[in-house]
Amino acid sequence: MGGSHRPVLLQAVIAAINPRAQAIYVDGTFGGGGYSRALLESADCSVWGIDRDPEACDRGAVLAEEFDGRLSMIHGQFGEIENLLASHNIDCVDGILLDLGVSSFQIDEPGRGFSFQNDGPLDMRMSMEGPTVADIVNQTEQGELADIIFRYGEERHSRRIAKAIVSARAKAPISGTIELADIVRGCYPTPKPGRKAIDPATRTFQALRIYINDELGELQRGLNAAESLLNAGGRLAVVSFHSLEDRIVKTFMRDRSGSGASVSRHTPQNDTDKNPPTFIELNRRAVRPDDSETVANPRARSARLRTAERTDAAPWNFGRTDSGGTA
Ligand SMILES: C[S@@+](CC[C@H](N)C(=O)[O-])C[C@H]1O[C@@H](n2cnc3c(N)ncnc32)[C@H](O)[C@@H]1O
Repeated sequence: MGGSHRPVLLQAVIAAINPRAQAIYVDGTFGGGGYSRALLESADCSVWGIDRDPEACDRGAVLAEEFDGRLSMIHGQFGEIENLLASHNIDCVDGILLDLGVSSFQIDEPGRGFSFQNDGPLDMRMSMEGPTVADIVNQTEQGELADIIFRYGEERHSRRIAKAIVSARAKAPISGTIELADIVRGCYPTPKPGRKAIDPATRTFQALRIYINDELGELQRGLNAAESLLNAGGRLAVVSFHSLEDRIVKTFMRDRSGSGASVSRHTPQNDTDKNPPTFIELNRRAVRPDDSETVANPRARSARLRTAERTDAAPWNFGRTDSGGTA
């Protein structure tokens, strides 16, 4: 477990949470523990670190030794935070952080299969459990595969890519990241000389990763859970890395603060008629990293931070039965 992860937008995230002594915070995406460490160093608070990756939890156990009982790790998914915390008799907290996606630890380890810069098995499971991306690309029916690549990668060549995958796997199962990346690249026209384009495989890899980990369903469930768990005045900070995630966070915060599309004053019986706002947005626009951060850490380039403060209104989801899943 070598390597490291440089926390993105760290100062802005911690400033948004505004840590206080005796308060309880949840770092729902512990990763390398950069946010947890900063919270614990900023105030005499306690932190529950959650990660679905068992290797992240092992790193957390090491960090916990430094902080004298103030950091506790839970292995699990943040979409389940309410149940995970309930099993430790916690039913309300003062701040929740979500730093979405994968860590550098995961990307830089070829054996996890997240990257096509180095060859590795087609895996991409954050939790190291359940079906792999190899299972999806080798077993999913062509039309469904195209839908996954289109929906979660916003890939306009999705049908062509799915067809190429199905024809390659008819010869032999597709097993490696570079093999899949080459199949996808073969579906794209050669870029014009001098034009710097992103690698054509990027969107397909993003789509398969989001799908296999049900990342959008997790995000929706995590936001709903935050609404239930946060005390009045508690803060929610979410860092996202692509437009599909950011749209969900933005819609949630706008709706819950009474300024989203579903609360238009032209819509009779809008949601705020029934439900007073549960959040106040702290920034109307997403906070982006500055140039010095993106130079030092190119992975921060697409990061967007959205933050909101919980009001004392009852959660809109009270008594809800849907799970918000996507996969
Ligand atoms: C971008 S990294 C977080 C880095 C962390 N903020 C730091 O400073 O080191 C995202 C982490 O969240 C975890 N993760 C992603 N989705 C998750 C989910 N739904 N539930 C729990 N952990 C999740 C990943 O396994 C990964 O370790």
